[in-house]
Amino acid sequence: MSTIWQLLEEHRAKTAEVPILSLFQDEGRFDDFSAEQDELLLDFSKTSLDSTALDLLVQLTESVQLEEKIDALFRGDPINTTEGRAVLHTALRAQADTPILLDGKDVLLGVRDTLARMEQFAQDIHSGRITAADGGSFTDVINIGIGGSDLGPAMATLALAPYHTGPRCHFVSNVDGAHVHDTLQNLDPRRTLVIIASKTFTTIETMTNGNTALVWLREALGDKATEHLTAVSTALDKTTAFGIAPDRVFGFENWVGGRYSLWGPIGLPILLAIGSDSFRQFLQGAAAMDDHFRTAPMRVNLPVLMGLVGIWHNNICGYGSRAVLPYDQHLQRLPAYLQQLDMESNGKQVAQDGTPLPRASGPVVWGEPGTNGQHAFYQLLHQGTAVVPAEFLIAAEGHSPELAHHHQLLKANCLAQSEALMCGRSNAEATVVASERGFEGDERERMAAHLSFPGNRPSTTIAYPKLTPFVLGQIIALYEHRVFTEGAIWGLNSFDQWGVELGKELAVALLPMVDGAPSDGKDGSTSGLLDKLSQNTAK
Ligand code: F6P
Repeated sequence: MSTIWQLLEEHRAKTAEVPILSLFQDEGRFDDFSAEQDELLLDFSKTSLDSTALDLLVQLTESVQLEEKIDALFRGDPINTTEGRAVLHTALRAQADTPILLDGKDVLLGVRDTLARMEQFAQDIHSGRITAADGGSFTDVINIGIGGSDLGPAMATLALAPYHTGPRCHFVSNVDGAHVHDTLQNLDPRRTLVIIASKTFTTIETMTNGNTALVWLREALGDKATEHLTAVSTALDKTTAFGIAPDRVFGFENWVGGRYSLWGPIGLPILLAIGSDSFRQFLQGAAAMDDHFRTAPMRVNLPVLMGLVGIWHNNICGYGSRAVLPYDQHLQRLPAYLQQLDMESNGKQVAQDGTPLPRASGPVVWGEPGTNGQHAFYQLLHQGTAVVPAEFLIAAEGHSPELAHHHQLLKANCLAQSEALMCGRSNAEATVVASERGFEGDERERMAAHLSFPGNRPSTTIAYPKLTPFVLGQIIALYEHRVFTEGAIWGLNSFDQWGVELGKELAVALLPMVDGAPSDGKDGSTSGLLDKLSQNTAK
């Protein structure tokens, strides 16, 4: 008997030449191949999926017991099996009071208590109850963290710029001294609060940048420097050793993965920037998506559908990357955030049981906001030899009513791109264009080849009313659960990240060699580069 994978492959072989556009002869296609959750629409009608393929993909979710896996996630089962941990970031945004029991204790109690402390802290900073060492107010906040302790808060703080009511937030992540230097040089240490955000409180980049910031604070504030420090971590012993007062530390548990942590204390910069009401709406948006993911039938379940489209493109059509294209300048950092969420979660080569995966896992994720990308890499999307499924995001309304004409242009461009990708321009149409441009004979044929677009390139569009805190919460949770869906279908562990270890270990071993110790035992390239880099060639 054929497996569902084989049936999918056979179906693809039969239908690969069917133009996506022709699928719209079915007038109900848009309705049938789109789904909505609380006014957030996912349109996947501009893909080559037809109802047979979708039925098979839904059967695939049954064969991997996706529903049971979703229940296990929300229940707090130790599904991160290589670290023996539950995965409960959803508890950080849970709105219901139904206890979530882990080792017999309701985790919601700690979550709510920490949220209340964070909110009080933010209110006190906003109101001036908590002051800087000189009694003045904090006008600026620097979040020092990396990976999940940076990308989520940096992305969401920027995304919610129209809702900012608090101090300006800055983010330092790179161990390259240029990052901390360039940030500090524009700030006044007497007005700046520094958050050191690290789940483990050992990450070399964060600790190095944190120490540099502490020296900067000390130069201005002396012994009072630590009054300008706050920490977010699971390692409370280490935050104390760093000199941060316990009432300035916001802890969280190891059942929150770094790349899933912006809903709790790691989201402190977001809360400081937008205040409690907006932060709660952000959590509510994510919780609404959680409820939908848990309860909606697979056929109308947005994260599941997005995951299935991803599986179709990656495993069945063989498209190895996907482009995230937010037509929303405030979502400028979304592609970078999703690179960690998606690629650190699903960039794996073995299944939960350690056996090699039989098929491709996580695709390469990349992207830039539209319309900027149109003037950069869209050439390849339209006419390159690789097919890259595009994922558009667009709001019905922007945040500047006085610039509504900009937003109309933005929407027109977004829709034009997905239409152009799907419809393309045939050689016959391109020949007409070439004629209109004055080309004749062989030259017209030659130009027609350059002016034609293959089309039939798939895209999905996420459309929402406006990028509010609630909607941002929905969008991020949608992507989180899409990653979960795909990881569950591949049978891998989406919640560990062993692939980042080796480079870290080698960097520690290389540091003395960079400082001049002999590079014995290193390969020729590494020794050669060490030699080259030890020469001070600055002129
Ligand atoms: O290097 C990968 C990683 O472990 C990420 O998973 C994590 O988000 C990041 O480093 C930062 O870790 P921490 O919050 O412990 O400093």
